[in-house]
Amino acid sequence: MSRPYPPPTLHLPDGPKADRWAALLAHVRADPTCRARVRPGKQVVLGVGNLDARIMFVGEAPGADEEVQGEPFVGPAGQLLNKMIIAMGLRRADVYIGNIMNWRPEIPTTPGGVQYGNRPPTAEEMAYCLPYLRAQIDIVRPEFLVALGSTAAQGLLGAGTFRTLGEVRGQWRDFEGRPLLITYHPSYILRNPTNRSKRMIWEDFLRVMDRAGLPVSEKQRGFFLDK
Ligand code: URA
Repeated sequence: MSRPYPPPTLHLPDGPKADRWAALLAHVRADPTCRARVRPGKQVVLGVGNLDARIMFVGEAPGADEEVQGEPFVGPAGQLLNKMIIAMGLRRADVYIGNIMNWRPEIPTTPGGVQYGNRPPTAEEMAYCLPYLRAQIDIVRPEFLVALGSTAAQGLLGAGTFRTLGEVRGQWRDFEGRPLLITYHPSYILRNPTNRSKRMIWEDFLRVMDRAGLPVSEKQRGFFLDK
């Protein structure tokens, strides 16, 4: 596990997006480095969603539910993300949802043991998976990227780009020519379910809606304003 492993070089076929995405899915599922890092019965996870999405959300890593179902954001944080996407006037099927990581970062347990809890990925783990995220961005070609949380933002922009998420949240940055908005991870709201924290993340979603030219009603603009 401690031996360095260089990031993969990916060669995707030309052709329709769906074919390229299917080739990428087959590639990541067969990747020996990824496979070696998932526990028996668990899955390597690629992003999911609309291959013509204008907006791509990027999270950190699969958790317990995601590694079972093989899909990002299907657990509690995913349920909340779905609600926020609906609050934007969209459906989950309208956007694309990916992660920095393709596997759940492992925490040692007894042999065959169940993993409780999560840890943030290391810089090396993130560097390994980044080509897969880049390939998804290259296939979908979203107009806007939204980094959910500090790990996603640092994974895209580079470690040490900022010290605390509070410094950069709500700001637009650039990821390889695409506008990238940084906001909180939905799990932050699950840990702090106050209208104040909901309003902060919602204001960031409004920034995306405004920049994307999505309609915003007065009701939407006022969500979570009552403290
Ligand atoms: N948190 C993430 O960052 N990604 C997931 O897929 C699930 C939870």
